[in-house]
Formats: sequence, C-alpha cells, structure tokens
Amino acid sequence: MNRKSTDFLTISNWYCTVKRNHLNYVTFKCNYVRINAPIATNGLSTSLFLHGIIFNMYTGLLHLHRMIAYIALILIFVTMLKAMFGMLNKKSFTEGDRKLGLFALISGHVQLLLGLALIFIGPIMSHFSNLGEVMKNSELRFLVIEHPLTMTIGIILITIGYSKSKKADTDRSKFKSMAFFYLLGLVLILSRTPWQKLA
Ligand code: HEM
Ligand code: HEM
Repeated sequence: MNRKSTDFLTISNWYCTVKRNHLNYVTFKCNYVRINAPIATNGLSTSLFLHGIIFNMYTGLLHLHRMIAYIALILIFVTMLKAMFGMLNKKSFTEGDRKLGLFALISGHVQLLLGLALIFIGPIMSHFSNLGEVMKNSELRFLVIEHPLTMTIGIILITIGYSKSKKADTDRSKFKSMAFFYLLGLVLILSRTPWQKLA
C-alpha cells in the first residue's frame, strides 16, 4: 500500500472485527455506520490500531448488552407480575420480593452503564453533531435517540419504584410501588427494544 499518512480509509459499518493479515492489510467486517480511519504508510498506524482495540471492545460490550437485555427483560417482567399478584391477593412483602426487585434494578443499571459506554466509545457520538440528519433517518433516530432516551427513562422509573417500595411502610404499598413503576418502565423499555437484534 503506498499511501500518505494523511490518507483516510472510509469504512461502512465498522464495529464487528478488525483483522490484520501477514501482509499488514487490514480487513473490516461492517454493517451500517460509517467512519474514517487514518492509514499510515508503514503498515498499521497507531491510530488504526487503537481503532481496532475500540472496535473489539465495542463488539464485546454490545454482546454483553444484548445478553443482559434478556436477563433484564425477564427480571423486570417477573418482578412486576409478582408485585401485582402480591398486591391483589394481599400477600405479605417478603425479603425474596425485595431481592427480586433489586436484581431487576441492578440489571437495568448495568444496561444503563453499558449503554452509556457504547455511546461514548462507539460511532453514536459522531452523530450528535448532525442531529438534523439523524432525525430524518428512522434507523439512525432509533439508534441515536429513541433507544437510549426511552430506555434511560424506563430505568429511572424502575429505580423510583424500587426506592418508593423500600421506603413504604405497608406491604400493600410496597407491592403497589413496584407493580406500578416497574410496569411503566417495562412498557417504555418494550416499546424501544430492538427485537430484530434479540431474535
Ligand atoms: C433494559 C434496558 C435495555 C435493553 C433491554 C436494551 C437492549 C438492547 C439491544 C437488544 C441492543 C442490540 C444489541 C445488538 O445489536 O446486538 C441494544 C443496543 C444498544 N443499546 Fe440498549 N438496551 C437497554 C438499555 C440501554 C440504555 C439505557 C442505553 C443508553 C443510555 C442503551 C444504548 C444502546 C446502544 C448505544 C446500543 C448500540 C446500538 C448499535 O450499535 O447497534 N441501551 N440495546
Ligand atoms: C450510569 C450508571 C448508574 C446510575 C446513574 C445509577 C443510579 C442509581 C440511583 C440514582 C440509585 C438510587 C436508588 C434509590 O433511591 O434507592 C441507584 C441504586 C442502586 N444501584 Fe445504581 N446506578 C448506576 C449503575 C449501577 C451499576 C453498574 C450497578 C451494579 C452493578 C448498580 C447497582 C445499584 C444498586 C444495587 C442500587 C440499590 C441500592 C439500594 O438502595 O438497595 N448501579 N443507582
């Protein structure tokens, strides 16, 4: 490759894998986001190498975010159902009920943390400078705005539900806070889950 260090390689959908073969050529497996990566004359530049690490990190975090998505959805759903059942049948609120709600809360918080990491290290940041274009493209709008924002609000509602339930002094009001806020949170989360990527 006879390129100047200022040359740029344009790649579409970059965040799968970056591989370097024995001739120092770099291959990218891609999908839909586009970035420019600088290439140096002498093999792989540091910057491209760093991009490689970040690509792989992004892929790893994305897999983790998808795996925990199943766990979070199930835990939030079960907590909400159990709280509704407990409230309607006037059951007493047990330590098990609190722990179930806590695990659902933690899985939501971990999703929040992973989601924020994905935004900061991934291609989404670069779209914030061009929100006009993002808004016009439904796929990008989902990725950059709708999914992160709606999920964050859903997780905040679940956190409020857990916190209110912890402070409430009767079993019925403990169940009621969990049932109500976890249901609201769940509805928002379900509405903006990328199901095609989960299946
Ligand atoms: C319970 C809450 C959440 C669930 C169930 C969920 C689910 C998912 C799923 C299934 C994906 C697709 C994974 C893949 O392509 O393999 C995804 C991607 C993503 N999520 Fe979430 N998510 C949640 C919360 C959040 C939050 C709170 C944020 C940010 C604040 C966030 C940001 C992202 C980002 C940036 C991507 C990557 C999109 C891409 O590169 O294709 N997520 N999420
Ligand atoms: C961006 C990241 C995060 C934010 C903004 C956040 C925010 C919060 C807030 C506001 C509460 C208070 C709930 C209350 O009023 O009781 C809370 C509670 C909690 N968070 Fe997070 N959190 C984050 C990440 C995490 C992570 C990564 C974990 C665990 C791995 C976690 C575990 C917990 C637990 C266990 C509680 C409940 C403590 C209790 O009252 O029993 N959080 N978080």
